[in-house]
Amino acid sequence: MSTAPYNNPGLTFNGNIPEGMVGWQSPSNIALVKYWGKKEVQIPCNPSISFTLKASYTETVVEYCQASGKKRVTFYLDGKLNEDFGKKIDTYFKSIESVFPFVKQLDFTIRSKNTFPHSAGIASSASGMSALALCLCSIEKEHFGFEDNEEAFFRKASYLARLGSGSAARSLFGGLVSWGKIDGDNNSSDLWGIQRLKEVHPDFLSFHDDIIIVDASQKKVSSRVGHGLMKSNPYAAERFKQAQSNVAKLMAAMKTGDIETFINITESEALTLHAMMMTSNPYYLLLKPNTLQIIERVREYRQTTGIPVSFTLDAGPNIHLLYPDKVQADVKDLMDSELKQFAFNEMIINDRVGEGPVRVSI
Ligand code: PMV
Repeated sequence: MSTAPYNNPGLTFNGNIPEGMVGWQSPSNIALVKYWGKKEVQIPCNPSISFTLKASYTETVVEYCQASGKKRVTFYLDGKLNEDFGKKIDTYFKSIESVFPFVKQLDFTIRSKNTFPHSAGIASSASGMSALALCLCSIEKEHFGFEDNEEAFFRKASYLARLGSGSAARSLFGGLVSWGKIDGDNNSSDLWGIQRLKEVHPDFLSFHDDIIIVDASQKKVSSRVGHGLMKSNPYAAERFKQAQSNVAKLMAAMKTGDIETFINITESEALTLHAMMMTSNPYYLLLKPNTLQIIERVREYRQTTGIPVSFTLDAGPNIHLLYPDKVQADVKDLMDSELKQFAFNEMIINDRVGEGPVRVSI
């Protein structure tokens, strides 16, 4: 498969340039096996797999009209003009001109808002880039048609979202989603995400993800820099092999409902992601004392009660607490009595596995 299967110089407007408006809500996702390390262009060094979230999403509405030749992108975040993001989106549009050459003929006013607070320290790139990619695919569909089915539509959106932010490739589908070539799995791809719903025990689709905000400040080292540091990390090659094996093991466990293996792999993956940061050169550390406090208490609680609650981490100090619906009341007690005290301003986002993006009716 070519790394540029969607390049299409024919997608330009002849004659009248249209104007219109389109919108999508698209969720964030939390990786269970982590993507960390990439090659050009946004090709992951290892496969990853994630839960799509429900409550944490971005809503993006794009208004488009004939290009003025001046400013192509005007971007508002939560109602406020944001020049920096506008410039980043303009750079992204440049990078996808070979797929959608019609973006050169248009100006865009983009209004985005996140359901999660900006200060929550949650990356909005997955939800934001997937929502934007969907808007562009809808503009294509509206004006040029789209020969294929819905599945192909979301696959193309996943391809485009990936070019903006790798992990965004997984936000286009509900439930459990993999991205990246998995050894022996011809269906998997480095270019887009694949929904894994048929391969997952229903218990896992009932999962909650309570995000405990330990520190709400901006990350000190960006993901882009972190991925780059994997190039010289002495453990990188082994890590990429381990991720391959963890994806295979995790998928097998999730098929049968084996929650013990699920917990073992997801917690190990979270700590391995941070171990890669600590063993990079220059090294860095994103975990905070309260992150470790929560990890210790969760593990102790699980050991003494047998209740299957586990943690994962993104590239930051905040804890994602994962557990099946049937133990929700127990985990609430744990949260109130032991964990909440370690959250910044008692900030906790109660999320769970969701069904994927939704078109906004305008
Ligand atoms: O999508 P990016 O380039 O911001 O990378 C994010 C990678 C992690 O969130 C740390 C892990 C993952 O697989 O989502």
